[in-house]
Amino acid sequence: MKGMKIRQVTAAERAEVVFPLTAYAFEPTADFEGLREKYRARMRYFEHVTTLVAEEAGGEAVACVAAYPMLQNVRGRVLDMAGVSSVASQPASRRKGYVRELLWQLLRQMRDQGAVVSTLYPFRPSFYGRFGFVGMPRRRRVGFAPGGLPAVELPGYVEQVPMAEGFAEYTGLLSRMCAQTHGFALFDELRTREFGEAKVWLALARAEQGEVLGALAYEIKNFGDVLDGRDLLATGPLGRALLLQFLGRHVDQVRKVTLSVGADVVPELWGTDLEVTLEGLVDFPTHGGPMARVLDMRGLDGIAARDGDVTVEVVDDAFIGGVHRLVGDGGQLSVTTGGASQARLTVAGLSALVYGVLDPVEVMSRGLGEIEYPAVEKLRAMFPREMPYLFADF
Ligand SMILES: CC(C)(COP(=O)(O)OP(=O)(O)OC[C@H]1O[C@@H](n2cnc3c(N)ncnc32)[C@H](O)[C@@H]1OP(=O)(O)O)[C@@H](O)C(=O)NCCC(=O)NCCS
Repeated sequence: MKGMKIRQVTAAERAEVVFPLTAYAFEPTADFEGLREKYRARMRYFEHVTTLVAEEAGGEAVACVAAYPMLQNVRGRVLDMAGVSSVASQPASRRKGYVRELLWQLLRQMRDQGAVVSTLYPFRPSFYGRFGFVGMPRRRRVGFAPGGLPAVELPGYVEQVPMAEGFAEYTGLLSRMCAQTHGFALFDELRTREFGEAKVWLALARAEQGEVLGALAYEIKNFGDVLDGRDLLATGPLGRALLLQFLGRHVDQVRKVTLSVGADVVPELWGTDLEVTLEGLVDFPTHGGPMARVLDMRGLDGIAARDGDVTVEVVDDAFIGGVHRLVGDGGQLSVTTGGASQARLTVAGLSALVYGVLDPVEVMSRGLGEIEYPAVEKLRAMFPREMPYLFADF
């Protein structure tokens, strides 16, 4: 691209080179130098982030993109994932294709470093649709008065500690949940450390023997006001029930509890007379649902798939374009190259099936591919619908 150079920058350079771009795009116009100082202090957690900038002739950085090295459970296997963020360009340099060049290079670098999939939170999904990403469900916000929850004796207890104190057990729980929950994503150890500094309470639900079964990070806004929770995390129903019971104990302290859950959670079943709101707000540019795409077909070997054998052609893609035979056998997928294809899919269409968010008919009705009839049923059987719960925000 004429006069434009792409350069990878270190974490130490980000406060000088990247912050002016992302602060203009995402921060309120305020105390720029004050915000920059805080940002500089955070950069020790960004050592493993891949950051690329576009420099115009003269060396000024005018656009940037970045990716966190992350892990994500995709149908039972924990895969290397590139979490894309810090996508921004200066107004005078927009619509010149700089971000397009940066994003393709970033995805290529991450794929070459082993990332099998990539996810992001879009300002506008159609922008990232061009790069092969497909939408996933946004987490829901639940709101209820604590009085409506049941108070039955349960085998276990809840401990309430400052986040810093419970952080090791909290991250241990996150790792276990990533191993068992489709869609669940984790930052690497260095990036995760920053979250331990959050000035919030942590409720840890424990079995009688002490094992952590669930956790909720939260803050209390004011006496008589709202207990504002993050995600209600639990390895199973007991962990969740213990946390809900703990929240019920706030009946005379707060008027309302709010917290986040995955898209398939049904909070109206948590209590008998429980009045509850379940909000799934999606709007742009601030509340987009996450998006994901596959970067490496062979990396999908071993994810869960029911029995079946379908050959698909993925069209127009630098990374996974071509013909792939997908075989589900003994509960696992294997991927090989070549054969006579029964479906023509965009990357987004293929990714939607792998992530379990669209049925093959919806892939077609959304314009993400064409599938011959017997293959529709085979793909539906091999990749049953399964809503991913992408825990991490970035
Ligand atoms: C979003 C943003 C990064 C786009 O940057 P840009 O430099 O204009 O992007 P490019 O010129 O490289 O455009 C890439 C492609 O997307 C298209 N595009 C650009 N803006 C778009 C939009 N709002 N919606 C849909 N497509 C868009 C371009 O036409 C181009 O298409 P092409 O590949 O067919 O030519 C820039 O507008 C920005 O900084 N916005 C504010 C911050 C922000 O929202 N960042 C994204 C956070 S997820």
